[in-house]
Order: sequence, then structure tokens, then C-alpha cells
Amino acid sequence: MKVAIDGPAGSGKSTVAHAIAKRCGITLLDTGAMYRSVALTCLERGIDPNDATAAAEVARSITIEFGQGEQGQTVIVDGRDVTTAIRTPEVDVAVSPVSAVPAVREAMVAQQRAIGAQGDVVAEGRDIGTVVFPDAEVKVYLTADPAARALRRAVQRDGRDAATDANATADAESVMSILEDLLRRDAYDSNREASPLRPAEDAVHIDSSDKTVDEVVDAIIALMEQAS
Ligand code: DC
Repeated sequence: MKVAIDGPAGSGKSTVAHAIAKRCGITLLDTGAMYRSVALTCLERGIDPNDATAAAEVARSITIEFGQGEQGQTVIVDGRDVTTAIRTPEVDVAVSPVSAVPAVREAMVAQQRAIGAQGDVVAEGRDIGTVVFPDAEVKVYLTADPAARALRRAVQRDGRDAATDANATADAESVMSILEDLLRRDAYDSNREASPLRPAEDAVHIDSSDKTVDEVVDAIIALMEQAS
């Protein structure tokens, strides 16, 4: 079975997809981590993330693998663990232009489909239900209001977990700067020409603003049961 979870940054896709993978014992495919890996490699090699030709060359030449660490899934690029390095504000900025390059997307989608061909998978991203796995049995479009999304990211950056700490707070300045970045990325991801962020026609919309992780996970598992 393929489960596609799409939605904007900070909507909870990653937390929810991790939980589903664990509960159902299926492969987790974090496609954002793959675009982030390309962006990080560009930055490390001194390549301008707006240089489409060079970014595509990077996307075609690096090997991205997923591993299993104590804290959950790890991301390995050319044998090096980049799990933490791909989550910096610099990568947040560089990943937008990189992920808008059609040839970069082509290279990533081919790898994503190859992983999907190996068995059951829960994949999260922006174009899973529309492009990567248009035949997915379950398609979810996960949203949350921008303020809730920014707070979750700020709490995460402080090393805490918004999913388990319901009263988590973060300092207003960092929430505001994260909110600005989320809105910028939403606009960029939704308006780019190549595979823009949009719900698949047959996606089930879930708003996670006032829901716990377990509530969202239960709702998606119910959809999986209906589909099987
Ligand atoms: O989900 P994330 O924040 O880790 O994703 C990082 C960036 O990658 C996001 O700004 C848009 C891009 N992305 C994409 O274009 N297509 C995907 N399937 C996943 C992510």
C-alpha cells in the first residue's frame, strides 16, 4: 500500500508519517529530506542554489540513503550522516530554488519511485499524491493554520517536541521569523511551475491545528483500513 501525505511546511506531515511508519511497520519516505540533501550539497560545494544546471548535476550525482538511528530515521548523503545538517535556516532558504528545478525533481522522483517499488510506503512531501504516487491508495492533504505551524517548528528548533508537550511555548521573536519563512516557502512551493504544492483531487483534507498527533494518525490509519 502507498500512503501519500502532502501539505505545507510545519503542518505535521513528518511527525504523522513517522508515527504511521512505526505503527504499521512500513517504510517512511521523507522526500523533503532528499531536496534538503541536494540544497545542502550545493551550499557545501559553493554552488549557487539558483544555478539550475549545477543543482541538477548535484541531484544526479549524489547518493541519498535513509538509515535508522536512536532518534529515528537518519539521512545519509554519499556515506555521511547529514540528518542535522539539512535542518538549518540556511538550508531552509536554499531548498526552495533547488526544489523548483525540473531536472532536480526528475532525479528525486525516480529515486522515490524506486523506493516505493520495494514495498509498502508512507511518503510525505508536496507532490506525492499528484506526481510521485498518483495511484496511492490513501492520499491526505494535511494543513494547519500558519501560527500553529510556526510554533511547532520553533519548539522543535529548541530541541523540544510540540507533539508530546501540549503547553510548549517558544520566544515570540523566533516564532515570528519562522512564520515569515514558512509563509515565504508556502508561496514559493505553491506558485512554482514544476509540481507546485496542491492537493490531489482525490485527497482527504485534514486540518491538524486543533488535533493531537494521535488523532491525525488514527484518522489516516482508518483511511488505510478502508482502502485495504
Ligand atoms: O518538508 P520539508 O520542509 O523538509 O521540505 C523542504 C523543501 O523541499 C520544501 O520547501 C519544498 C521542497 N519539497 C518539494 O518541493 N517536494 C517534495 N515532495 C518535498 C519537499
